[in-house]
Amino acid sequence: MRKATDNLRHDHDHILIALDAIDRALWNAARGQRSIEFFELALEFVVVYADGAHYDKEELLFAAVLAHPMPPAAGPIGCLNMEHDATRAQAARMGAALDAVRAGDASEWFALMDALVRYTTIIRVHLPKENAGFFPMSDQVLGPDVQAELLARFEAIDRALPATIQSIAASLQQRAPIVVANAPVRVEASHVDKYQLYDERLAAALEQLLVDR
Ligand SMILES: [Fe+2]
Ligand SMILES: [Fe+2]
Repeated sequence: MRKATDNLRHDHDHILIALDAIDRALWNAARGQRSIEFFELALEFVVVYADGAHYDKEELLFAAVLAHPMPPAAGPIGCLNMEHDATRAQAARMGAALDAVRAGDASEWFALMDALVRYTTIIRVHLPKENAGFFPMSDQVLGPDVQAELLARFEAIDRALPATIQSIAASLQQRAPIVVANAPVRVEASHVDKYQLYDERLAAALEQLLVDR
């Protein structure tokens, strides 16, 4: 039987595709090649699909697990909820920065990039915790009736979206720029390497900002 968590894992696969596209766009944006249209679509992906529908579904799962007669420790859910709040805060910063850029304030590009880097960093540590920790634990705790009911509610949330998460992620992939020729080799291996990459990217963004002044 297809489990409710399978629906969420499917979202994760497409969130990671979108994140790779955003990584490429950020890499180039830090070097001055910036497409407002790309970042508008990225913000829509975040607000409507990832932080929106996906979190709505997960928060139903959290509630179902906590409602179990013998719920597991609440700690992991508290941590996951905190990360949801943290990415929503970054999404709010992205929206404000994008509005300012659209209104002609180019200095807000840095705030937009900074918010996206923080967003993707949180998501990259958040998803593995769910895939490898919380989802398997939920699958053990929840009975088939609760699973089936959750899956039906998840599918209803998906149907109410204007498009599928995979179509928006694919669109971001298509529109993401080719990384500029002198960019270092992309690092995939571990979170530690990811953090190093982000630090480099923030430094590059700062440098660019100083050059612009
Ligand atoms: Fe989550
Ligand atoms: Fe998730």
